[in-house]
Amino acid sequence: MAETILITGGAGFIGSNFIRYILRQAQDDSIRQAQDDTIRQVQDDTIRQAQDDTIRQAQDDIRIVNLDALTYAGNLENLRDIENHQYYKFIHGRIEDSKLVRKIIETENISGIINFAAESHVDRSIIEARPFIDTNIIGTLTLLEAVRDYKLSRFLQISTDEVYGSLGTEGYFTETTPLEPRSPYSASKASADHLVLSFVNTYGINALITRCSNNYGPYQFPEKLIPLMILNALEEKKLPVYGDGLHVRDWIYVEDHCSAIWTVYQKGKSGEVYNVGGRTEKPNMEIVKSILKILNKPDTLIEFVKDRPGHDRRYAIDCTKIEKELGWTRETNLEDGLKSTIQWYLDNPEWCKNVRSGEYMEYYKKQYDK
Ligand code: NAD
Ligand code: DAU
Repeated sequence: MAETILITGGAGFIGSNFIRYILRQAQDDSIRQAQDDTIRQVQDDTIRQAQDDTIRQAQDDIRIVNLDALTYAGNLENLRDIENHQYYKFIHGRIEDSKLVRKIIETENISGIINFAAESHVDRSIIEARPFIDTNIIGTLTLLEAVRDYKLSRFLQISTDEVYGSLGTEGYFTETTPLEPRSPYSASKASADHLVLSFVNTYGINALITRCSNNYGPYQFPEKLIPLMILNALEEKKLPVYGDGLHVRDWIYVEDHCSAIWTVYQKGKSGEVYNVGGRTEKPNMEIVKSILKILNKPDTLIEFVKDRPGHDRRYAIDCTKIEKELGWTRETNLEDGLKSTIQWYLDNPEWCKNVRSGEYMEYYKKQYDK
């Protein structure tokens, strides 16, 4: 019988990529074969065992129920190609709605939850923090209470490296780095992380956390750096770089994040945190210039604008733990990932036009016309 997992926030950027990734994992023979071949070549016994188990799981059917509030960032067009898949179902609603969450667990026979649902944009949290508290903290608490009461077998919280705060020029975030969130967004995510671990400790639920660095790839809403710069460059509009443009982020292609999430869901230890990163640190200016170069547009489109208040200077993830303990590695490098992301935006003008409708234009004006 298929195992049913509740994915929350599955109509957003990472959630929709993850649902597509899972449905493909469970079904695509050629991918399975490619992974089999990799295993034959890998020497290290623990890695071989970890990968073997992943494949065994992927061969079982996984059914996905996607609960999403369809905020400005949630978009059913992100899932158009799989909306009629036999192992997929969409339910419209909020994770803070305890009655609804419990009804879904009962009627859909949910065995575990992966929580992607969040208000996710730092700049919006600076404009208005309250929705971040409602969804990211109260919403996560609502899910945890349901996991406890229905004794679900697994809860995975999708968190962020931003909970660790900001680094200077040296050092990396490890799983034991103290949490020092510095924006309303990261404070709300850190609160949720504390709640997850407190529920493991107090009620003995089976739960764990991933903390990932900056994602990019298809279906990312163009309020975030990379898609915003791609779309502005295509229209030869100014590319607004905050401050001196030397803030550093560690970039990971979204599909690599998806494979890390699936690995942790299946093999991670309850009560543990797993950092996920791309081992690809870049200053923002370098990312922006790479986009312009690929699109053959001039650097003169770059415009330095007022800095983000409280702007974290540098994030860099040490992901040794997930690599060593669970056998995960990232596959796509920045050059390839950026090229295929740009190609995706070029190939999907309708999607781009539709997401940049009324609400987006209002936000853009508020954020950039200062
Ligand atoms: P996103 O903003 O693209 O998508 C969020 C989704 O959650 C949307 O579909 C939205 O409709 C839904 N949602 C919002 N509030 C909800 C609520 N109350 N109930 C149900 N659904 C709700 O975000 P994303 O970039 O895909 O991020 C997904 C998760 O990954 C978030 O938890 C984020 O903190 C985390 N994360 C993101 C990144 C990144 O670089 N984007 C990196 C690390 C971690
Ligand atoms: O690190 C993980 C986090 O990455 C996630 O938890 C967040 O959900 C996600 O939004 C992202 O946060 P950032 O604030 O790092 O991402 P953003 O794309 O907003 O900005 C990346 C960098 O680019 C940051 O230093 C700010 C800068 N920037 C961003 C925008 C939107 C600009 O210079 N100009 C811009 O217009």
